Amino acid sequence: LPRSALPPPRPVPAGPALRWGVLAPGGIAGRFVTALHAHSPQRVVAVGSRSADRGRRFAAEHGIPRAHVGVEALVSDPDVQVVYVASPHQAHAPQALAAIAAGKHVLIEKPFAVDAEQARVVVDAARSAGVLAMEAMWTRYLPQFDVVRQLLADGDVGEVDLVSADFGFQLPFDPGHRMYDPARAGGALLDAGVYPLSFVSSVLGPPAEVLARGALAPTGVEHKASVLLTYAGTSAHGIATTSTQAAYPVLASVSGSLGRIDVHSPFLAASGVSVSTGGWGKDPGTLTWRDTTHTGVYDAMHHEADALASYVGQGRLESPVHPLNEVVDVIRTIDEVRRQLGVTVDPRGEV
Ligand SMILES: NC(=O)c1ccc[n+]([C@@H]2O[C@H](COP(=O)([O-])OP(=O)(O)OC[C@H]3O[C@@H](n4cnc5c(N)ncnc54)[C@H](OP(=O)(O)O)[C@@H]3O)[C@@H](O)[C@H]2O)c1
Repeated sequence: LPRSALPPPRPVPAGPALRWGVLAPGGIAGRFVTALHAHSPQRVVAVGSRSADRGRRFAAEHGIPRAHVGVEALVSDPDVQVVYVASPHQAHAPQALAAIAAGKHVLIEKPFAVDAEQARVVVDAARSAGVLAMEAMWTRYLPQFDVVRQLLADGDVGEVDLVSADFGFQLPFDPGHRMYDPARAGGALLDAGVYPLSFVSSVLGPPAEVLARGALAPTGVEHKASVLLTYAGTSAHGIATTSTQAAYPVLASVSGSLGRIDVHSPFLAASGVSVSTGGWGKDPGTLTWRDTTHTGVYDAMHHEADALASYVGQGRLESPVHPLNEVVDVIRTIDEVRRQLGVTVDPRGEV
């Protein structure tokens, strides 16, 4: 190995303590607010719900001063500087556009939008309004991904040959669940597949060619997709797999001519990174960095919020480690995979 220890993650410069508004107080919103208030200076000052009662309960549970009813009331709260959009997929773009129109920065849960055309509209709106927009691809902002970035920049694995990542879990078929509901942009790709596709994209960029196979649930959304990606000017391949039928290993790796980077399972949450030079049948030299900072999986969600605040402090309008054009490109790949799988249901659904 060309080094004796893995490079430690580089801290993101501290940004201002921003005042956040949270739209749609559901499962992930609660985890996000808990992580922020426990591990960062960021403060949630308002929540917006379709239900007065649900909003009030969420506010009381998390010590949030104000509960608004409806999107407009939340985004027009003059105290709110940044809106976290945590609704189901099909509502992301409409709610983000409302926040942008009100002059707020936006952190939009993954997927940023349900198709590339819609994602592009949100990107254009944010750019013309001069506000920052970010996909809440929290994986990108975990310290372990800065270790990966440094290893790739330093060429530790040599010429990249294969980038692979997977995310699959068992969710028994239930037409009432949002993951199987076409009206709520269901399907494995937008919910889970976006993680491995985003990982592959972070290393190899936009693909030249997309080859996909998969299977559809009785509601017409895909419950499985395996994707092979090829690139211009290199023989490197990307492989991303996703399913709501089986628990996959949830690993990500970059294999190259000199060695391999493995992001430990679950790669999309705080775990660890190893780099090794050996292969099968050889005694590998291995170096490992482990993230031991948090006990709860979702505690590490504060990193994306700290990064957003840092970028706002630097006057940036997008994330330097996850540019908006790349966000759109990954969703364009998902559009193409859905087309190849024969998914005909409209992911835009009802808002
Ligand atoms: N980063 C992560 O690790 C992670 C994990 C899980 C989920 N997510 C993402 O977070 C988003 C929300 O997921 P979740 O599991 O938290 O969802 P959820 O609990 O099912 O719903 C979130 C909230 O959205 C609102 N809502 C429900 N149906 C709606 C509709 N048709 N239109 C507008 N708002 C609606 C509801 O709030 P009100 O009715 O009170 O407004 C609900 O409480 C998804 O896009 C998902 O991909 C991210």
